[in-house]
Amino acid sequence: MLDKTKRGWWKSAVFYQIYPKSFQDTNGDGVGDLPGIVQRLDYLAELGVDGIWLSPVYASPQVDNGYDISDYRAIWPPFGTMEDMETLIREAKRRGISIIMDLVLNHTSDQHRWFREARKSRDDPYHDYYVWRDGTPDAPPNDMRAAWGGPAWEWVPEVGQFYFHQFAPQQPDLNWENPAVRRELYDMIRFWVDKGVEGFRLDVIDQIAKEPDTKITANGPRLHEFLEELSREAFREEGLVTVGEAWGADVERARRYSAPDGRELSMVFQFQHMYLDQKAGGEKWDAIPLPLVELKRCVERWQTGLFGSGWNSLFLDNHDLPRIVSRWGDEGQYRVASAKMLATMLHGLQGTPYIYQGEELGMTNIRLPIGGYADVETRNLYRDRIAAGYPEAEVMASIYARSRDNARTPMQWSAEKNAGFSQGEPWLPVNPNYTEINARAELADPESVFYYYQKLIALRKRYPVFRDGAFSLLEAESEKLFVYTRETEDERLLVVCNFTGETVDWERPQAFAGAELLLSNYGAPLEKLRPYEAQMLYLGRP
Ligand code: GLC
Ligand code: CA
Repeated sequence: MLDKTKRGWWKSAVFYQIYPKSFQDTNGDGVGDLPGIVQRLDYLAELGVDGIWLSPVYASPQVDNGYDISDYRAIWPPFGTMEDMETLIREAKRRGISIIMDLVLNHTSDQHRWFREARKSRDDPYHDYYVWRDGTPDAPPNDMRAAWGGPAWEWVPEVGQFYFHQFAPQQPDLNWENPAVRRELYDMIRFWVDKGVEGFRLDVIDQIAKEPDTKITANGPRLHEFLEELSREAFREEGLVTVGEAWGADVERARRYSAPDGRELSMVFQFQHMYLDQKAGGEKWDAIPLPLVELKRCVERWQTGLFGSGWNSLFLDNHDLPRIVSRWGDEGQYRVASAKMLATMLHGLQGTPYIYQGEELGMTNIRLPIGGYADVETRNLYRDRIAAGYPEAEVMASIYARSRDNARTPMQWSAEKNAGFSQGEPWLPVNPNYTEINARAELADPESVFYYYQKLIALRKRYPVFRDGAFSLLEAESEKLFVYTRETEDERLLVVCNFTGETVDWERPQAFAGAELLLSNYGAPLEKLRPYEAQMLYLGRP
């Protein structure tokens, strides 16, 4: 177990993200719940993770699966009660697992009490909690668009004004310029800290300091001022871990968010590696094969750019991204090998890894008829692209490749009915491959993806080089191999990954001739690298 009284303990930690709606249902309503998470804590302890990033469980109309909060201090009833939440925090802690809650501070639900008051009159004290501009119903303040299509402005006749929303119209943006808003949010955070929550993942945190008059959403001029205040006022507790989701972060900005003095956040959760396999100038829906050379350049930029001056999150999957095996690996013949290879590439790096539920099983994407998708972003995309004249087959191909629902299908626990997720009708279909890919089968197979993740986690704890080692990229121009080293004064690690389904020539560098094989997805190394082969080689003090 990690000693969490140590400053910066989270640099040695591995986190696991739970999307509660899809994790484990205990009462047959088809929706995962808090008691379901409690039931599965031993599974997570077996995997070896130190904390859970819990996607939102607050009261919510669920327009965006809980990222639209109507009461920050209440639990959405289908997930359970406040008592269930307290049980989860306690039971997790007993197993050395911290609960990291998801904090949505950029916006609330339009059903939040603040907004229901705010929209009644311009004189209401809550009016200024949100971002309003004058206009006439047919002439919004400007042409800004919301993230999932449609205008970013919504007209409210009662006050004769538009309010601003970066996401769905049911997610009005909070006005961070108003000190009363900030105070309310800090108080709310203290409420959860008092309950034993040990950290927070901060949803779209680089978008809070928006200035819609100049069309600024991410990285607004007051962002760092707000983050410093937030940290000072709400996270003052020693040891609280804070993870800032920042779609617009580059290395330089990330250094500031995650500076070692802790003035802003513990670490940044940035996406530059996730933008590489899409057409230039296109959107995430315009997928292209992964340009491996660019991925390596990107990883190198972050590994060297934050070394000693910031801290990154390591992830390939989350609830907003398609499944990585389907995306960069092979969901067919080499599913297991490629899932392990991708994990090796990621877990050898510097940063704090996040495993998204099911990733440790090598879960894959799903294909549904359009009516089967629940995600607001996916549905809007379909509507907008069909209206814009895209051929239906092309739109569906984009959705199969990139819909967020790929990651949101129920967790595959066993080969029993509904993958052991629920006795009732699951809120989103279970991937039909659950009879083959499920936790029970993997726990019975020593060669499974699950046990491979377990080993990676254990290795990270055992050898300091994983936390501290300096990164160097080898074979930078190879379009097939991802090879790098990590080095401290005492230790050297070599990570070799074949990103293709072919056998590839490779010669181990002389310096690692006598190295110990820490882990591989194939067993003893041969002269050549086999399809999706991965190796981790280690040298202690010479
Ligand atoms: C973040 C969340 C995503 C959500 C959005 C709006 O990107 O991860 O799921 O839809 O913010 O809150
Ligand atoms: Ca339930």
